[in-house]
Amino acid sequence: MRPRKRKNLDPRMEAASAVLVGQPEQHRGAWRALFGAPPHAPLDLELGCGKGAFICELARREQGRCLIAFDKVPEVLVLALEKAVEAGLSNLRFVLGDAAFLDNYFAPGEVSRLYLNFCDPWPKSRQAKRRLTHRSFLAAYMRLLGPGGELHFKTDNRPLFDFSIGELTACGFALSQVSYDLHAENPAFNIVTEYERTWSEKGYPINRLVATVTDRTAPAPARKRAAVADPL
Ligand SMILES: C[S@@+](CC[C@H](N)C(=O)[O-])C[C@H]1O[C@@H](n2cnc3c(N)ncnc32)[C@H](O)[C@@H]1O
Repeated sequence: MRPRKRKNLDPRMEAASAVLVGQPEQHRGAWRALFGAPPHAPLDLELGCGKGAFICELARREQGRCLIAFDKVPEVLVLALEKAVEAGLSNLRFVLGDAAFLDNYFAPGEVSRLYLNFCDPWPKSRQAKRRLTHRSFLAAYMRLLGPGGELHFKTDNRPLFDFSIGELTACGFALSQVSYDLHAENPAFNIVTEYERTWSEKGYPINRLVATVTDRTAPAPARKRAAVADPL
């Protein structure tokens, strides 16, 4: 479904431009400097941030971490920008961009943690390559995360979750904190996203995992990976 056209999109983007990074490739390898943070400060990304409730609350809770959120749809991103400006969060910036081009924006090993919340499931088998947990995306994530880096993943879509576990395992990520009903556990760390609220209120259990890059997490071309049956 196409997002609704927002009224006055350009002036609204302009008004919130203090938190928008216009030329992200210029910061490749030097993002922490943009925040005035020391070189060892953690740098985290959210891919597909939508309307921004999750990343704004994370920035409020984790003021020692530098946060960057991506979305490729301006009509949605503008709402996240406006939330961040209103909240006055100095450790958060946004990029209007596609997760397919992360290598252009980040140097290898530059990122500490990557959040992927309720990405589109692309349910048809022929669309599998578009899923943000397909191994081609995972190969890019492992490059920018480096050893010890973490991918935090949530979805209401159980077939996508099963597919993602297969892909992450095939790529040698170490899985931990795997939950098939996060809200039953009700952990204090959980920040509910806009999609999470909608789908959990409809009765869908929320799945979550953390995937860590290890020495065994090989870059994509380095070794042949087993094909995974498509559960979607
Ligand atoms: C289903 S929504 C989830 C939004 C939010 N994470 C949440 O949980 O409420 C998926 C979001 O990802 C964005 N998106 C999809 N593919 C993307 C890509 N390749 N790069 C950046 N953003 C993407 C969409 O525009 C949309 O805002």
